[in-house]
Amino acid sequence: MKTNETVIATLNGLLKEELTAINQYMVHAEMADDWGYQAFAKVEEHTAIQEMKHAEELIARILFLGGKPIVSEMSNIRIGKDLPSMLENDRALEQGGIDGYNAGIKVMVEEKDNGSKQLLEGILEQEEAHIDYFEEQLGQIEQMGLPYYLTTIK
Ligand SMILES: [Fe+2]
Ligand SMILES: [Fe+2]
Repeated sequence: MKTNETVIATLNGLLKEELTAINQYMVHAEMADDWGYQAFAKVEEHTAIQEMKHAEELIARILFLGGKPIVSEMSNIRIGKDLPSMLENDRALEQGGIDGYNAGIKVMVEEKDNGSKQLLEGILEQEEAHIDYFEEQLGQIEQMGLPYYLTTIK
């Protein structure tokens, strides 16, 4: 296949965000675990692993298209100081990811790369499930109050 630089640059841009998410969630998972919130830590860890799978899929696609995956770049990692700020930073990261995948899908339509479009659509669906979880948790904190919420995530 002829290598399309616009497609490769778009996929690398999304890869950068996935690498950022892996690291942010991995640190949040370990912080939560350290504080004794094991149930929450498990979800963060599972989310980090899903982001790693997204990164793998993007790397595989870039290689298939004859491009070079860039794995040495990350955006700012925003580590929360407590549960609510972790959730807020994670929610913001997912929103950025969702915006990125939607923009990426538009690029793939313009570049007539339906294989990449399908890949991005599949990942987008999972990012929407991620943001749904973070928003749900923030909503529960608002409804229950933080002290009670914390008893539910041990
Ligand atoms: Fe992801
Ligand atoms: Fe995500």
